[in-house]
Amino acid sequence: MATVRVGPPSRGLVATLGVPGDKSIAHRALLLGALAEGTTTVSGFPGGGDVLSSLGAMRALGARLELDGDTVRIEGAGAALGGGGRVAIDCGNSGTTMRLTAGLVAGGAGTVVLDGDASLRRRPMERVAAPLRAMGATVETSEGHGPLTVRGAALRAVEWTLPVASAQVKSAILLAGLRARGTTCVREPLVSRDHTERLLGHLGVRLRRAAGSIEVEGGQRLAGAAVPLPGDLSSAAFLVVAALVVPGSELCLPDVGVNPTRTGALAILRRMGAAIEVAHTHDVAGEPRGELRVRSARLYGTTITPAEVPGAIDELPLLAVAAALAEGETVISGAAELRVKESDRIAALAQLGLLGVALTTGADGLVIRGTGGRRLKGGRVLSHGDHRIAMAFGVAGLVADGGVEIVDAGAAEVSFPGFFARLAELGAAVEGA
Ligand code: S3P
Repeated sequence: MATVRVGPPSRGLVATLGVPGDKSIAHRALLLGALAEGTTTVSGFPGGGDVLSSLGAMRALGARLELDGDTVRIEGAGAALGGGGRVAIDCGNSGTTMRLTAGLVAGGAGTVVLDGDASLRRRPMERVAAPLRAMGATVETSEGHGPLTVRGAALRAVEWTLPVASAQVKSAILLAGLRARGTTCVREPLVSRDHTERLLGHLGVRLRRAAGSIEVEGGQRLAGAAVPLPGDLSSAAFLVVAALVVPGSELCLPDVGVNPTRTGALAILRRMGAAIEVAHTHDVAGEPRGELRVRSARLYGTTITPAEVPGAIDELPLLAVAAALAEGETVISGAAELRVKESDRIAALAQLGLLGVALTTGADGLVIRGTGGRRLKGGRVLSHGDHRIAMAFGVAGLVADGGVEIVDAGAAEVSFPGFFARLAELGAAVEGA
């Protein structure tokens, strides 16, 4: 799938539909299941490129994983994980695979080389290498980037304060801490997603959580368990904004994860004027899930503060598209992390200008002047090989005269396989999917 054109549907988007399972939790279920003793069964597995990278990584480290439909059955390797010699792992496009696996193997007996595609090789890895070195592992980067070579060692616990909120780095340190002597403590400046903490608890690990810090005592064993995944809120969000901006829409998305460390985008959209209901909320395997109901709404510009960034980090490109259609100005600041995601997302979003949106970009954010509900201009944009940029511009295409042509739209497959086909099923004019 090279280039896809998405144009406006002839009617509102009206449906009840499921979304792929949560990618963030799926990575963790594979890694922790591989480290656990006994069987872990992950159901609702999303099957995009990123989680398949983690699946391959855990096989390479010696765990047994079988994928059958949307279920992965894992026979954990326990303490033997990653124990033998030198293992090379291709993490593809997945930063979560590279950073979390580095932490997982830092206390193992082998040497693991973690590499990935051109985008992943551009992403900063010193942030994970430094704490693992402080714990006693040998970690080599290529001038701060992948490939990463991790030589496992007997680790000592560390107290580490993250300079930037990052669930990936926090998780890598906690995973290494599980195999370290003593109690490892991670402090974060703002709360990032806590799926690792919740899943560790579900697999029998005791953690001490306080405001801004998490402690784990080394030497604890994990017990395999069933991990049914909720739908991925970050995937659902594209459909939520699609429904908000296409007049006459009404979507119902059952069984989506609504972990409060992930729902920042819903709060921001509500502030922009959206009516989004979350019904039937309940917890499964330590993670809250519920049914999202959304209908089209008039949106207004807002200010997204630095403190809100971690809770909405993956949705910021999509929120920029919502802002482009809102009435008034939207300011996003404190979001320099966007520059080091799968692409430089601030630079990629500047392409909204090609669709007739007035915006300015800065080092750590954007200011967007919305059209006040008027349709965008049609145009051609690049995904920069970034799934969330491809899908955000797909949503823009739904309200662009003549549609939006997205070059390298196939990038969407790493997190939401079949996204453009889904838009077509909802009635959008989609060519090339
Ligand atoms: C993720 C954490 C976030 C997020 C990424 C997935 C995770 O990255 O942007 O898509 O699963 O832990 P950072 O840890 O770099 O903030």
